[in-house]
Amino acid sequence: MASGEQEDITYTVQPGGSLNGRVRVPGDKSISHRSIMLGAIADGVTEVDGFLTAEDCLCTMEAFRAMGVSIDGPTNGRVVIRGVGLHGLKPPQKPLYLGNSGTSMRLLSGLLSGQAFNVEMTGDASLSKRPMKRVAQPLRLMGADIATTETGTPPLRITGGRQIRGMHYKMPMASAQVKSSLLLAGLYAKGKTCVTEPAPTRDHTERMLQGFGYSVERDGSTVCLNGGGALRATKIDVPADISSSAFFLVGASIAPNSDLVLEHVGINPTRIGVINILRAMGGDITIQNERTVGGEPVADLRVRSAELRGIDIPTDQVPLAIDEFPSLFIAAACAKGTTVLTGAEELRVKESDRIQSMADGLLKLGIDARPTADGMVINGGTLTGGVVNSVGDHRIAMSFAMAALRASGPITIHDCANVNTSFPGFVDLSHRAGLRITSP
Ligand code: S3P
Repeated sequence: MASGEQEDITYTVQPGGSLNGRVRVPGDKSISHRSIMLGAIADGVTEVDGFLTAEDCLCTMEAFRAMGVSIDGPTNGRVVIRGVGLHGLKPPQKPLYLGNSGTSMRLLSGLLSGQAFNVEMTGDASLSKRPMKRVAQPLRLMGADIATTETGTPPLRITGGRQIRGMHYKMPMASAQVKSSLLLAGLYAKGKTCVTEPAPTRDHTERMLQGFGYSVERDGSTVCLNGGGALRATKIDVPADISSSAFFLVGASIAPNSDLVLEHVGINPTRIGVINILRAMGGDITIQNERTVGGEPVADLRVRSAELRGIDIPTDQVPLAIDEFPSLFIAAACAKGTTVLTGAEELRVKESDRIQSMADGLLKLGIDARPTADGMVINGGTLTGGVVNSVGDHRIAMSFAMAALRASGPITIHDCANVNTSFPGFVDLSHRAGLRITSP
């Protein structure tokens, strides 16, 4: 919805059941965003298959259309982008509205810092509260003119026509969005742009730039590129999103008698924290039919029910599973013993404060969940039924839906409209796999 105001959508999930069969969840959100961005500034026509037709990625697509890029689709996941080259974007007639999508706003802030025109970016109520200084500050160091509100939140106003300069930036937090934003600004910079990350984060931008024929160097935790090159159009096959698969990995693990195959899932090593963590908890996940598709590793994931046990989640897995903690908290609630998460303060600045929203819901469902500044302590127990609120956060909504597989009564989840930002068709697909979910 253009205003960012959503009508309430409620899920009701009856308790019990199991997840079985074969499913393919929608395309990877991170890769879909990047396919539009890089396709738009490439020379030539880029064809994308498996594109995620969800609100977040459609916001990115509309933003580039508003800047004069001709894009066909999405039609059954197929998108055709007529690239305008690095310097071919046109000034948009009005502010770019980016909905709920932090990825769109943060990556675009880098890409747009190097343009000749002014641009303003806005978002919905959730995005309007999210921290943007993390990109604005380093972009200013590169010479960008970029303004936020006093508290560092959107709207963002970029004044164009600045000469961007390369720099070496040591990121204070592990963020693929910040890294990608600076690399995209670096395409327009004089000289070399390097970003050092405190821990590995998803590297789709680097891989895709190389797929567009743009040279990117990596040396340990530092990634560099030189400004002033050109991107050559390419074909992109977007794998199924491991972040959307995570709900099913958890659901099939906690629900007795489950045996589910998730097809064609992206298993980039910077994204597989959820597999590593579930396995450490005793999860039964097999990686089958591994292959490489368009520079990204892909596989089918078979997951079967397992007796999970609580663990101390290794902090090196945190950035590799950063979007999967809402569902992992459900796994922890069903595990024997205590699960402790630390080093995950970033969860407090996602689409919602995910530590608080998950702790609130788990407590309502009878689980002893104690939020901490940078994580959570969860004692496994028995999930009761109850009424929870997703606070408009897609991943909170889908995580509590899966909790019903092990609950003793029905779970009602309010404020689920934003599931459409990342996972259109979630209700149908999860129902087909065995979740007893209904939504009016
Ligand atoms: C993303 C990076 C992560 C992740 C987000 C998508 C990306 O954010 O949470 O959903 O596509 O680069 P951070 O970079 O803020 O950790």
